[in-house]
Amino acid sequence: MTQSASRPILAFDIYGTLIDTDGVLDQLRGLVGDSAAAVSATWRDKQLEYAFRRGLMKTYRPFPVCTADALDYSLAAHGLALDRHARERLLAVYRELPAFDDARAALDELNAAGYRCFAFSNGTRDAVAGLLEHARIDAAFEGIVSCDEVSSFKPDPMVYAHLLQVADVAADAAWLVSGNPFDVIGARAAGLHAAWINRADAKVFDPWEFAPDATIGALTELPAVLAAVAA
Ligand code: 2OP
Repeated sequence: MTQSASRPILAFDIYGTLIDTDGVLDQLRGLVGDSAAAVSATWRDKQLEYAFRRGLMKTYRPFPVCTADALDYSLAAHGLALDRHARERLLAVYRELPAFDDARAALDELNAAGYRCFAFSNGTRDAVAGLLEHARIDAAFEGIVSCDEVSSFKPDPMVYAHLLQVADVAADAAWLVSGNPFDVIGARAAGLHAAWINRADAKVFDPWEFAPDATIGALTELPAVLAAVAA
């Protein structure tokens, strides 16, 4: 058995875990001034809500549609209007969001240790590939697993099953790494292990019956956590 075959696969969530959705703030500030943080927060919340609702209603549209619809909602909710050009610029920035500072070092260390890493996202394959390339972390991944391939969204159990099928591993040989509590809960409910990344202790974990196997404050803590679990 090779070293990597004995290790779990690692599936990294993208938006909010490797990629910082607040990367739109600079562009937003130039367009909506002091409302930028509130518009960004509503945009992200609505984007996820639209994905949840479309998943439940079985009215699938790709994640970029949820993102664009959520931007329109957020602007309207905050009493703002942007011309078509400004709206397109914002959506273009969303396709080139930055990676969090800790992403590259963590991925390099995990690759060197022999872990198979996957990018696992609601985002379409093209959108995720573009983000990873733009952030220059694409080489760290064996593959991209997009929920778009099964026309659903996290936390539908089907998308975690799809991940396991693509990686060709059993649930207990897979770890999800995510900053999104709903994603961690979805993975744990599907039998996977999960690490929750809570940067700066900023979020509250939902008080459900599913808890993360590990909670970390930065991705760079992950290699040691995985080594301790394996020991
Ligand atoms: C992702 O799937 C949930 O937005 C998060 O990348």
